[in-house]
Amino acid sequence: MSDIKFPEGFLWGGAIAANQSEGAYREGGKGLTTVDMIPYGENRMPVKLGQVDKVELDADEFYPSHQAIDFYHRYKEDIAMLAEMGFKVFRMSIAWARIFPNGDEEIPNQAGIDFYRSVFEECKKYGIEPLVTLCHFDVPMHLVNEYGSWRNRKMITFFERYARTCFEAFDGLVKYWLTFNEINILLASPFSGAGIAFQESENHDQVKYQAAHHELVASALVTKIAHEINPENQVGCMLAGGQFYPYSCKPEDVFTAMQKDRENLFFIDVQSRGYYPSYAQKVFDEKGVKLDIHEEDFEILKNTVDFISFSYYASRCASADMNEGNTSAANVVKSIKNPHLEASDWGWVIDPLGLRITMNSLYDRYQKPLFLVENGLGAKDTIDESGEINDDYRIDYLRSHVEAMKDAIADGVPLMGYTPWGCIDLVAASTGEMSKRYGFIYVDRDNEGNGSLDRTPKKSFYWYKKVIASNGEDL
Ligand code: BG6
Repeated sequence: MSDIKFPEGFLWGGAIAANQSEGAYREGGKGLTTVDMIPYGENRMPVKLGQVDKVELDADEFYPSHQAIDFYHRYKEDIAMLAEMGFKVFRMSIAWARIFPNGDEEIPNQAGIDFYRSVFEECKKYGIEPLVTLCHFDVPMHLVNEYGSWRNRKMITFFERYARTCFEAFDGLVKYWLTFNEINILLASPFSGAGIAFQESENHDQVKYQAAHHELVASALVTKIAHEINPENQVGCMLAGGQFYPYSCKPEDVFTAMQKDRENLFFIDVQSRGYYPSYAQKVFDEKGVKLDIHEEDFEILKNTVDFISFSYYASRCASADMNEGNTSAANVVKSIKNPHLEASDWGWVIDPLGLRITMNSLYDRYQKPLFLVENGLGAKDTIDESGEINDDYRIDYLRSHVEAMKDAIADGVPLMGYTPWGCIDLVAASTGEMSKRYGFIYVDRDNEGNGSLDRTPKKSFYWYKKVIASNGEDL
């Protein structure tokens, strides 16, 4: 540990997303989104991965997003608790389908605008800065059914209208924006990542990279618009991060790890530099991908992001002979098990030094400020007889990662802030479980949707409050 301190004004806070917290899935005029269609249980993965022909609601299934943790009705109570911890920033997302229920309307839904205005005003009341993701996995279903979602170029126009509406409606209330959550996840999880369901016998890579191109153009375009509407606006990209380690020092393993990192960094290369990286064409050729790029896209892509945000839960590991049998997915991206690291109950390795490594690599590559907008330990919590939740395992995880952030800052990496994931317990994106908890605040709800939804501070709540009050000194 170094003597370096967190900078003054460091943005301590936490993160949630609309689809995993709000519930009220048809209230206030909201339209259906992709995540509303993803059930809990055995039929979940085929939908998430875009492997079903037609995505429809089924009365026999349970859909965790429909009520989630009811943030829609309880945000005042929740934000008051975040304020009690001393939050400086609160990362959340806007549900596109609350603002444009179908996604292709000309006029926005006023009830949706009013809801988010009220949430942001509540944050401001406590001096909490909102950090807002425009699209966190929830594409309006109408855009999926009518247009095939991001495979269609028209999505750029719809997203532009949506983003402009938000920048104008919330001008003065929000200045930190992220365009697409974990944009690289669309490669591994196309439906939840980008609303992509595949038709029979089409080249999946072609569809995914064309969708990626449309998202990249849309992201750059709205970055430009955000800056035009208010030069104070700061816009970031968002990477599902975690460096790939070579399984051994065998050159073939090292080369594979580099390629695996590039699969993910490809997106950020474009968003940060403003053009496609030199390795992209070879990747496209190998995968039989021919992108439809319009001449004006090259100019639009030059509108690069102001900062690089990323999630970090675990490092990854690659070898030249990776295959289905020897890999598993932690946070969707497939990895070989690293024998040197312990893992969570869900098999996500715990590697604080990997955070320092990831931060140094990202900054070496982009030289833009970083923002760690997701990090945390998904774990089962129990309430003891006195009603307390003693989540020391979570405190240990977070402490070691805050120390790693501090070390990376000492290495010379500028870090704007830290918003650990699921600061209030919420629905897990991968499995749809409630029992995979990340929060400082316990929510009484189980995997099947039973429970009072009451909120209770955990031991980590008081620990994090102390961390924030001491600007990361009292760990
Ligand atoms: C990230 C997502 O991939 O990881 C979040 O941005 C998600 O939406 C988080 O919840 C943790 O994953 P999970 O599956 O444990 O919820």
